[in-house]
Amino acid sequence: MTFKPATWPRRLRSQEWYGGTSRDTIYHRGWMKNQGYPDDLFDGRPVIGILNTWSDLTPCNGHLRELAEKVKAGIWEAGGFPVEVPAFSASENTFRPTAMMFRNLAALAIEEQMRGQPIDGAVLLVGCDKTTPSLLMAAASTDLPSIVVSGGPMLNGYFQGERVGSGTHLWKFSEAVKAGEMTQDEFLEAEQSMSRSSGSCNTMGTASSMASMAEALGMALSGNAAIPAVDSRRRAMAQLSGRRIVQMVKDDLKPSDILTKQAFENAVRTNGAIGGSTNAVVHLLAIAGRVGVDFTLDDWDRCGRDIATIVNLMPSGDYLMEEFFYAGGLPVVLRHLGEAGLLHKDALTVSGGAIWDEVKGAVNHNTDVIRPVERALTPQGGIAVLRGNLAPKGAVLKPSAASEHLLKHRGRAVVFEDIDDYKAKINDDALDVDETCVLVLKNCGPKGYPGMAEVGNMGLPPKVLKKGITDMIRISDARMSGTAYGTVILHTSPEAAAGGPLAVVRNGDMIEVDVAARRLHLDISDAELADRLSSWQPSHEQATSGYAWMHQAHVEGADTGADLDFLKGCRGSPVGKDSH
Ligand code: FES
Repeated sequence: MTFKPATWPRRLRSQEWYGGTSRDTIYHRGWMKNQGYPDDLFDGRPVIGILNTWSDLTPCNGHLRELAEKVKAGIWEAGGFPVEVPAFSASENTFRPTAMMFRNLAALAIEEQMRGQPIDGAVLLVGCDKTTPSLLMAAASTDLPSIVVSGGPMLNGYFQGERVGSGTHLWKFSEAVKAGEMTQDEFLEAEQSMSRSSGSCNTMGTASSMASMAEALGMALSGNAAIPAVDSRRRAMAQLSGRRIVQMVKDDLKPSDILTKQAFENAVRTNGAIGGSTNAVVHLLAIAGRVGVDFTLDDWDRCGRDIATIVNLMPSGDYLMEEFFYAGGLPVVLRHLGEAGLLHKDALTVSGGAIWDEVKGAVNHNTDVIRPVERALTPQGGIAVLRGNLAPKGAVLKPSAASEHLLKHRGRAVVFEDIDDYKAKINDDALDVDETCVLVLKNCGPKGYPGMAEVGNMGLPPKVLKKGITDMIRISDARMSGTAYGTVILHTSPEAAAGGPLAVVRNGDMIEVDVAARRLHLDISDAELADRLSSWQPSHEQATSGYAWMHQAHVEGADTGADLDFLKGCRGSPVGKDSH
């Protein structure tokens, strides 16, 4: 930690719009005054953009306007000037073809909103899955002082007296209906029980994982990740963050000071300890690519390999975010990592201090929710990165969500050429499949879907479910919802639509998976594989115009974060030419 605060007072970038007496300054300042702002607000104090991903169609972020008021209160208190700015909001549960296709578009739009407007720092008001990484990517590319405020998770769901986890139980109930263990009426009745309050998914899905990543990276105040959306402490956190960003601007504490290689390694280990989402893999790679840190898929395996999953939350475990908060939340996990020698203790955070100073006193109030390592959920959690002739650039699997008996397996491939082919065949009892087979889904990667949809956790064939079997090996170039579970191999790279070996797997091929050896092998000869690849032709739909075209033309592989090639890197926040 080598951060040295800048001197204050000094001239901030917002003064390029608001400072002075020129015609242009009067133009910028005068128009702002139509909102009733008094003259002294333009005196050189930090102007803070509250980038708000509120949207009625992003229900997980539906409460963020209320939270923005608390952020504003904090900014006013600290002597800043808050301005709320609507930010592109890609809802995981609504946006088609998949919110992931718009993560990069959101990051692009927000980056330009930050750079092109008179703000000196930003509060990133986020919640639903893609909103956190897209705003962090934008902040990394502009390198303006920024702090994350998460919307917080929903309260626990309950149905028939049992905890119901967002997403996790949707998959479970859906399989139960197919297996004849639950009626359709019960399924409908369960619907409301899944979403009891404002907030993001209450499991350790992608939203909670990314909130945890933001905290572990040092981009949020300590404790931000787990506070439920409707808990009064969430609003206090928003207000404190508003106060803090003003000082960050004065100190010139930027994302590039915080998002170091050490910070990413802390985040990877944290993701292993919490049993976090596989989606964190692509998002952290993309954020690192924006800030220019050398952080790769191999770092995920190297740092995460021996991390025990100690947080007992769905989808890997039993509890939900509400209980995680009551148990002490992420600071307890970070303290555990620090005591085990697995945390870079001096990594800088938005507090201006070292991460260890914030978490060393954290107390675990429930050792069944945050377990001691001797009773870990999975002794070796983390993210396993598999390689082999089926995934030369890697594929990922989450051991804590997988079945032990399938971690080493050889099975016959049952192939689906795309998601429509899968949907057409999977429920047909004539499908030649049993529980020893390996389900293979193609053309669902960043280019193929397009956008890399969360369809990798393919539901099992009903005839297998009816035998009481609940897991099979599934392989695809897709992603999986962070709320899902199973022995699911994802992000296979290169993807099928880019001509990766996944594209040429055929029904009846034998596939070998050995997670301990990090191996994913298609059991055909090198000559046969080369022959198949030489005659491969793309079969995915190709957009010819619009953003979908741009995305397909420029998106990189999942193995490097699936960012658009021309958006990688930090472009800073130079003040451009005036337009008047
Ligand atoms: Fe928005 Fe899960 S769908 S947080």
